[in-house]
Amino acid sequence: MTKRVPLIAGNWKLNHGGPSSCALALDVVRGLAAGAFPRGSVEVVLAPPFTALAAVSATLEEEAASLSVPVEVAAQNLYPVDEGAFTGEVSAPMLLDAGCKWVIIGHSERRQLFGETDEGVEAKVSAALRAGLRPIACVGETWEERSAGSTLEVIRRQVSAFAAALAAQPGVGVIAYEPVWAIGTGQVAGPDEAQAVHAAIRAQLAEINQQFADVTRLLYGGSVKPDNARGLLACPDIDGALVGGASLKASAFVGIAAATLPEG
Ligand code: PGA
Repeated sequence: MTKRVPLIAGNWKLNHGGPSSCALALDVVRGLAAGAFPRGSVEVVLAPPFTALAAVSATLEEEAASLSVPVEVAAQNLYPVDEGAFTGEVSAPMLLDAGCKWVIIGHSERRQLFGETDEGVEAKVSAALRAGLRPIACVGETWEERSAGSTLEVIRRQVSAFAAALAAQPGVGVIAYEPVWAIGTGQVAGPDEAQAVHAAIRAQLAEINQQFADVTRLLYGGSVKPDNARGLLACPDIDGALVGGASLKASAFVGIAAATLPEG
């Protein structure tokens, strides 16, 4: 059986400028250092806003010697064209320049508030991979879709948009399942419900290639907190978490990372 190293990602959304992002990143690094994580037990990703990416990357580089677990930087979005007349946009090569290793793509807030489509998400996933950035591609159903019993159908459609792109570089990209109704609401999918969707996603990836399915990490997101993380992370197809609100508090975020370790 493939061992997938748990990945805990913090999506800071539209919070924190440069100095306070660096302070939060430092608090996370120190919290992780105090947490006695065995080598190779977990990986951590922090996603500050665009304007703080370079500063947080530099801070992490300075702290490299004290990093007990890998901590890397993600952007929260990108534009899928490398350069040109696209006022206000930021491309994958620019994110690499700023020290990013990862990029969150297709978050439900982008889909709902900024009109991102499955096709657009696929273009961004492909642009990220082409540039050497690791995508965290997000999927999730709304409350209405869930109530109508169409969760698995919606997730299948969203995953199928970018699955082939991810399969070209197995293990590089990550998929985050975030039920829209659980994001920022305090309402969390129960471990059984989340596991069922994760298992369906993995089965869908296996239709392309079993090895791809085995190495692809699937994160759960939506109101993950230190007190519910352990139950979710214990599920066989949940390989980590994409954390919003709780990632803004270093102690809570480190507590979620600690929930990947065996109890005791
Ligand atoms: P939340 O956000 O943890 O605040 O629910 C998760 C996300 O939007 O990635």
